[in-house]
Amino acid sequence: MPKRISKPAVNTATHQGQEQTSACRVALIGFGTVGRAVAKILCENDNSLLRLTHICNRNVERKKQPWVPSDVVWTDDVESVLKSDVDIVIELIGGLNPAEQIVRCALESGKSVVTANKQLIARHGPDLLQLARSQGCQIEFGASVAGGVPVLPALRVGLCGDRLHGIAGILNGTCNYILSRIENARIPFSEALEEAQARGYAEADASEDLDGGDARAKLAILALAGLHTRVAPESVRARTIRAVDAVDFDYAAQLGCTIRQIARAHLKEETLFAEVGPCLVPTDSPFGRVQRNLNLVVTSGQYGGDMAFLGAGAGGDPTAVAVVSDLMFVAQNLSAGAGKRDVASYVSTPVISSDFETPWYLRFFVRDQPGIVARLAQILAAHHLNIDSLLQKPGFAKASLPFVITLEPCRDSLLHPALEEMSGLEFAIRPCLCLPILR
Ligand SMILES: NC(=O)c1ccc[n+]([C@@H]2O[C@H](COP(=O)([O-])OP(=O)(O)OC[C@H]3O[C@@H](n4cnc5c(N)ncnc54)[C@H](OP(=O)(O)O)[C@@H]3O)[C@@H](O)[C@H]2O)c1
Repeated sequence: MPKRISKPAVNTATHQGQEQTSACRVALIGFGTVGRAVAKILCENDNSLLRLTHICNRNVERKKQPWVPSDVVWTDDVESVLKSDVDIVIELIGGLNPAEQIVRCALESGKSVVTANKQLIARHGPDLLQLARSQGCQIEFGASVAGGVPVLPALRVGLCGDRLHGIAGILNGTCNYILSRIENARIPFSEALEEAQARGYAEADASEDLDGGDARAKLAILALAGLHTRVAPESVRARTIRAVDAVDFDYAAQLGCTIRQIARAHLKEETLFAEVGPCLVPTDSPFGRVQRNLNLVVTSGQYGGDMAFLGAGAGGDPTAVAVVSDLMFVAQNLSAGAGKRDVASYVSTPVISSDFETPWYLRFFVRDQPGIVARLAQILAAHHLNIDSLLQKPGFAKASLPFVITLEPCRDSLLHPALEEMSGLEFAIRPCLCLPILR
């Protein structure tokens, strides 16, 4: 059985002038993958700041573990936990309902909260920060983006002295696993997805991951913490990775690039340019080197320049480390009497735009016939778009011929009407795949 902390640490003077010691009392709600790993860390390590007092889960009997000390209360009654004298509630059940009510109720009763719930923070983060502030307590959510990679604490502490204007990341391990498998084995998208599902890296319905919903929720949280902007996740454009083909990695390689799902946000005056989707990135860049299901976040600051954070974006143990680190931060603040953190008060609400200016990669699958390139060039010229290069690998069947046109930098809004015009061309056998090239 793991060791149990009995050594208390926070010293507070009593009214008799005696020294009394106490650790923060902590309740864990949600004993699943992350909750169990959090409990393990708390039970196995001497931690004089924290004392686990409750574990709450529905149908809790089946969850009980022999390695949890006998004085910890196991319960399925959330209300009794919220009415108890705990100092910090850890919310690890996920989803919006009833997680939102639990977190609000905890904050309203003056308890601080630690959560890993990206859906909750992406939608209600500014309001919950405001509520915590008004109640003199804290809410921390360091594990809600990039799992075990301490990028949110870095934004909160290590980089708060800079003035950040950009954040970009590989934030979805499922997409990165699939894209790096297609890159390395040149297998079709469907095969890479099946493999990810078989290995537990993708859910049976992986739409949230593949179509960008997961990454844009995380981008909204990064924008809140690093750029101090309130962003509704739905207002950020998300493009799917489903249309990426093995041949795109051949063409990308000819351009010195590979393909990754990138979530990016750039603050320029009152406008936040933000988007999630597959992009060409240089093979030798930090993004190009991220393999399997790892996460990477790069921040850009006015004074400090670029900083990169790489590591395990998911998994019980890495995510639990982020949760316990948040707990310790809250406990230290509580013991120092510094519960009020003024974050919500300087959050702005910018205009959201996806109108980035970049070079572009356009991949066509056509039924070969004379005059195709001339027709496409005519449409591009009519929209004042400049071709940078034309790539065509030999050896493909004439009935389904892939080739690529790259464009010099232009705004998304200029390119869009040209793409619409191209979508009606009789020789196109698939919609054109249009990817930004990030240099
Ligand atoms: N797993 C990761 O790698 C990871 C990474 C980063 C962030 N997160 C976030 O961490 C949170 C927890 O994720 P997880 O992977 O640990 O999820 P999980 O394995 O599904 O665990 C959730 C736990 O909460 C319990 N639960 C659900 N609804 C409940 C309710 N209404 N009342 C009481 N208990 C309830 C579940 O009980 P049952 O056993 O009955 O279902 C389960 O034990 C989520 O917000 C997730 O997005 C996870």
